[in-house]
Formats: sequence, structure tokens, C-alpha cells
Amino acid sequence: MRWIDGLEAAAGEKLPEAVHRYFRQGAAGGISVGEAVAAWSEYRFRPRVLTDVSTVDLTTTVLGVPVDVPVLVAPTTLQRQADPDGELAMAAGVGAAGSLLGVSSNAGTTFGAIGAVGTPWWLQIYVVRNRDITLRMLDAAVAGGARAVVLTADTPVVGRKEDDGPSVWEGLPPDHLLANLDDDDYGDGDLDKADDLTPDVIGWLAERTGLPVLVKGVLRGDDAKRCSDAGAAGVIVSNHGGRQLDGAIPTAQALPEVAAALAGTTTEVYVDGGIRRGEHVMAALALGARAVLVGRPALWALTVDGSAGVTRLITDLGDELEHAMRLAGARTLADLTPDLLTRRS
Ligand SMILES: Cc1cc2nc3c(=O)[nH]c(=O)nc-3n(C[C@H](O)[C@H](O)[C@H](O)COP(=O)(O)O)c2cc1C
Repeated sequence: MRWIDGLEAAAGEKLPEAVHRYFRQGAAGGISVGEAVAAWSEYRFRPRVLTDVSTVDLTTTVLGVPVDVPVLVAPTTLQRQADPDGELAMAAGVGAAGSLLGVSSNAGTTFGAIGAVGTPWWLQIYVVRNRDITLRMLDAAVAGGARAVVLTADTPVVGRKEDDGPSVWEGLPPDHLLANLDDDDYGDGDLDKADDLTPDVIGWLAERTGLPVLVKGVLRGDDAKRCSDAGAAGVIVSNHGGRQLDGAIPTAQALPEVAAALAGTTTEVYVDGGIRRGEHVMAALALGARAVLVGRPALWALTVDGSAGVTRLITDLGDELEHAMRLAGARTLADLTPDLLTRRS
């Protein structure tokens, strides 16, 4: 069996049931989480022949940061449940693969310690009701060397999960979440997600941090354009791994519309959700993404083999991408253009 395909089950042997379920689950009836992977199979390639593919180059830049492979790690919580070293092991694994990592604002490790690993990272931020808390987190992330701010925009309220077992939050060590806040930093309601955000928040984040801002959770071309007009340096086409609005369209379907809306702008396009194979990465890049992000596979890999597992995941996906590019007649990521694809008839 392909190593990546066995990871979820192998992680299930090591994780408490509630954590395994939390990592796996989607919101509500599970439509979006269930469709994500299959949606990438809606595309078919139109490979080019008789091109010299004796060397294939996977390198690119993401908001100016060079990476060896266009597969980044999406921000996720509870990494210390997956591995005792949590985000530190994730960062080390990503760095060894020459990639970049998203760090959740709910991380279980301080931003300073994550930054000290030396792997380039983006801070994912939830803007919360008490904006002072958000500002403190932003300052800590800047001090820890974050290269960009990823504003998660699909979470004005947290998607409902229909648990049928003990909650993951029961018995969780307090320092496995929110390591970047002190307990006396916040009170009741302070950490509720802000539900009154408008595109103005993009400028507010950029001004406070001096960093480029990406908006995560964009599924429509018109929203992508609003973000770009408001100064976003990038958008991440995402439905939060199916954990927010259930029934939200698959990212594989949303990506072409977003890429078309941003054509001719400098706003970079990224995508996550259900990306499990090199062919999925190739399809995403051909549809206009600059790089992809993987969420659950990185958690499984971290659980199964710590930082080495994360390195192997990214390296394997890069090897698969390289192989697929050879077969498709593409030598560089710039050769991955929309004409390489068609929708399955
Ligand atoms: C366990 C888990 C925790 C997550 N935590 C966050 C988070 O804190 N912030 C955020 O913006 N997205 C979060 N996400 C969403 C991921 O960043 C990403 O959008 C999604 O996992 C991509 O889909 P994939 O898991 O199919 O690769 C989380 C996802 C999972 C599975």
C-alpha cells in the first residue's frame, strides 16, 4: 500500500479515539469533508508529448519565500496530541523538506519557539471579539519571525461537529492549546470569533504587522477580488477541510473561478482541501494555484513518525508531482497551465 494512504489508520493506532475523530471529522453531516478528495478526480489531464523532461524543477516562491516544493503545511491545532514535540516537530519536518508551515493561532507552542526552529512560517489568525488579544498574538508572531499573516475568514462562528463520543477537549492538558496567551489574558466571550469582519480587516492586519496578509477560506471569485482590492497579498481557496459550512463546494471546484478573478493582479492563489496525491497537486497548480497546503495528512504523518514522517509526506508528494509532471510534459511549475486539464466528461 502507498505509505500516505495508510497514515490515517496507522495514526488511529496511536492516538486517543477522541483526538483521531477530531482530526478526521467535518462539520454537521460531513458532506464537504466527504467530497474533498474525490473532487480532484473531476479533472483529466491533457499531457504534452515530445518535450524534454530530463530535468524537472519543483522550486518556487511563496510570497517571496523560496521553497523546494509547492506543498506547504496548513495550520492545524492539537499538534502536541499527535507528537510530544508538537509544532516544533512539525516545523522541523517541514524545514527538512524545504517547505513552509502554517501555524495555528491556537497552537500549543509559543511562536518564539516555533520561529527558533528556523523553518519559514505563516501565522494563521482568528480575529476574536477582544481585539487586544488578537493584537498581542500578532505582535508575538512578528517577534517570532512570521513571514505572513493568514486571516481565517470562514469562521464567524465555529462549525458544529456532531460528536458521538467523548469530547476531545475533556482532559486536554491546558498548555496544548493557546500557548500564546496567558490564562489571565482573557475572560468570558473574549475569544469568541469576530463575526463583524469586513475587508478593512486586511489593512488593519497588514499595518499592525508589516507583513503580507493572505485570506483563507475564499471560495468565490467576487470575494477573491474584494480581498485583492483591499490589499490581500494572497488568498487560500479553502473550505476549512469541511469543518465550517457543511455543503460548501469543494475547493477543486472553486479554484478556477478564484484564479480567473485574480488574473492580472499580484494576489497569489493557494488551495487546500483533500490534496492527497502528486496528481492533485499538479491539477491545483494547473488550475492557477501557486502552491497547495495539506492539513490532515501532516497530522497523520506527525503522529506516525514525528518530524521524519512530516518530511517524508512532503517529499513523497513532491516525488509524485515530479513523476506526474514528467508524464505530462511539464518541466517547471510555470509549465502547469490550464490547457493541461479538462473536466471529466
Ligand atoms: C484538526 C484540524 C485542526 C484545524 N485547525 C485549524 C486552525 O486552527 N485554523 C485554521 O485556519 N484552519 C484549521 N484547520 C483547517 C486546515 O488549515 C485546512 O484548511 C484543512 O485541514 C485542509 O484540508 P485537508 O485536511 O483535507 O488537507 C484545521 C483542520 C484540522 C483537520
